[in-house]
Amino acid sequence: MARPLVADIDLDALRHNYCLARELAPHSQALAVIKADAYGHGSVACAAALESLPAGVRPPAFAVASIEEAEALREGHIEAPIVLLEGIFEAGELARVEALGLWLAVHSEWQVKALLLHRPARPIPVWLKVDSGMHRLGFTPEEAIDVWKRLIDSPEYVTAVQLMSHFATADAVDDGYFRQQLACMRELAQRLDVPLCLANSPATLAWPEAHGAWVRPGVMLYGSDPLEVASDATRRLKPVMTLRSEIIAMRDLKAGEAVGYAGRWQAPRTSRIAVVACGYGDGYDRHAVDGTPVLVAGQPAGIAGKVSMDMLTVDVTDIPEAGIGTEVVLWGQASNGRVLSVDSVARHCDTISYTLLTGVLPRVPRRYLGLGT
Ligand SMILES: Cc1ncc(COP(=O)(O)O)c(C=O)c1O
Repeated sequence: MARPLVADIDLDALRHNYCLARELAPHSQALAVIKADAYGHGSVACAAALESLPAGVRPPAFAVASIEEAEALREGHIEAPIVLLEGIFEAGELARVEALGLWLAVHSEWQVKALLLHRPARPIPVWLKVDSGMHRLGFTPEEAIDVWKRLIDSPEYVTAVQLMSHFATADAVDDGYFRQQLACMRELAQRLDVPLCLANSPATLAWPEAHGAWVRPGVMLYGSDPLEVASDATRRLKPVMTLRSEIIAMRDLKAGEAVGYAGRWQAPRTSRIAVVACGYGDGYDRHAVDGTPVLVAGQPAGIAGKVSMDMLTVDVTDIPEAGIGTEVVLWGQASNGRVLSVDSVARHCDTISYTLLTGVLPRVPRRYLGLGT
């Protein structure tokens, strides 16, 4: 029997979540952010699944972080436009940008100079990145006015200039900083009369006033709720990845006996411990505390003891039917339909869903469901 750990990727759920983003932002176009191998879900399979949506519903474009990620999509026969969210990393990439038909973000003066010096044979759609308060990438609003003029003065090389910016706090309940960033970008867009692309998943889900011409949802497409407080919209998200394994051994412990490295978990009573084939060598977070939720035979249970490289241990004392071969879901949807959100697991690991999803390592086979839909 093969090692039972698998990441099931539900492409119907992915399509559902993308359609939810569109429904929430009906006056915007929705870019699908599929960088980092579609947040660990497999970028070509996810892009192909989204492209299988009917015309008018499917994503008008995808977004990735590097030319290598864009190349992988083209090699996988994905033909839709692809935006490089951080643009080029060196001028030498521009020939590949042209050959692959990519759209470019520009966030730095050297990128603008390189683009205009390169003189592409056909004008490249450009997204002008503005730093409205994230203080990571982008031009200040004042600099952006000058850059925008230079870009639209070169219509033979540059086309369809949009303004983009990224929110630092769109997920937070306190909306003060978010509103400052939004006001800054709205003023600039009005002044230049240019379309806006601002909204990541939290802003797509919670801030209609930030939707603009384009929204840029990422993590919500994979079913994770990025908001501090869940909403009616986030409750409609469906998990795309189910990290599924099985019990490979059982241990009976007397009260006081300890489990695993450093004996972190000690049995408070006579206990039954299930050993599950999944560990940090698969990308499961080693910071998971005792009690981190899992589903055993579709029932809630908690991790007991430190996560090892290839295994983790779960207290199944209250699940009498648990035995070798029983299904264990680390996050996602169990066979009985019960859902364990990756967000809830992330909270127990003092991290966010993004790191858990992108952290599932290549040795975990991806199994795609909903391919034919
Ligand atoms: C520029 C940019 N836009 C959009 C996204 C998507 O964000 P989220 O996954 O929170 O929707 C990201 C993600 O990091 C990003 O860097």
